Amino acid sequence: MEEELIGIKNNAVSFILDAEDLNELEEIKLQFLGRSGKLTIALKEISNVPIEKRPEIGKLANEVKQIIEDTIERKEDELSEKRTRQRIEKIDKTAPGIKSEIGHLHPITQVISEVADIFKGLGFQTADGPEIETDYYNFTALNMPPDAPSRDTQATLYLDTKSTKVQPGEILLRTQTSNMQVRIMEKIKPPVRAIVPGKVYRVDDVDPSHSFEFWQLEGFCVDKEIRLTDLFGTIDYVLREIFGKEVKIKFATTNFSFVEPGVDTYMECTVCKGKGCSFCKNSGWSEIMPAGMIHPNVLKAAKINPDQWTGFAFAIGLSRLVTLKYQMDDLRLLTNPDLRILEQF
Ligand code: DAH
Repeated sequence: MEEELIGIKNNAVSFILDAEDLNELEEIKLQFLGRSGKLTIALKEISNVPIEKRPEIGKLANEVKQIIEDTIERKEDELSEKRTRQRIEKIDKTAPGIKSEIGHLHPITQVISEVADIFKGLGFQTADGPEIETDYYNFTALNMPPDAPSRDTQATLYLDTKSTKVQPGEILLRTQTSNMQVRIMEKIKPPVRAIVPGKVYRVDDVDPSHSFEFWQLEGFCVDKEIRLTDLFGTIDYVLREIFGKEVKIKFATTNFSFVEPGVDTYMECTVCKGKGCSFCKNSGWSEIMPAGMIHPNVLKAAKINPDQWTGFAFAIGLSRLVTLKYQMDDLRLLTNPDLRILEQF
């Protein structure tokens, strides 16, 4: 038994020292220390050795195992160092380097800063506001009392308030960036000009032109003697700045509870150039900026006297603006994280 163990040790050590690479070393390791390796089997046979010789043989067996393991470990270090050296030597120092990719702003963010810049030139400051909003600022303060039928047009996502003291229906995901009108007017007394780009949420099925989340940019101006023509002039200027001087624009009357009169702005569809396509529902026109003169009740909600001050408000469907600008036929591309799409902007 003694001789067998010493034989195994000598055998293993000479194999290990001759190993050329890490794969070979791994095989040798299995050959001796694996489940049916030579040393493993020999160790099992110790139980057949006469009992008085067992401590001595056991000690020798442990020493043999230790020597084999140490030799493997040292060889492993040597071989991996060799491999690293070889790899370094293989590097072609004259080959061109790998260009590191630098990210860029998302198309929506790019358009927001472009539009914010245009409004800045007209004296509008940019504001930010909460996406989780109270019923008051999203609806009631905007001349939409609890029973207003106009609320039904904005299918609202309410937050679960079960385990809180908040009344059901009090807290919601804002359906419109108009939620910031009264919030801002409460803080900044007129004259005031502000825009609010941001995300809004509604219950909706997702398709090429609809989503449960989308971007709007609200804007408003309150000052002395602000008239409807100021609103028309502002919209006209801004759309020409964004889309170019030749852009065709038309206005129509409409209803929103927080403006009187309400105005819808249409722009010739940039996807089909007015011919009619699925994006503009074959009308050749795209609804782009709903607007109007701020309703006296909204000014009153912000404790502003409507006999002294007047104002206009408008919203840009930002998601739609981006798709029109880049002539995309599907809104969903804007929330698609596929870099092959985003890299094109
Ligand atoms: N907040 C409205 C919506 O999301 C859009 C809107 C219409 C905003 C008219 C305005 C406005 O400021 O004057 O449907």
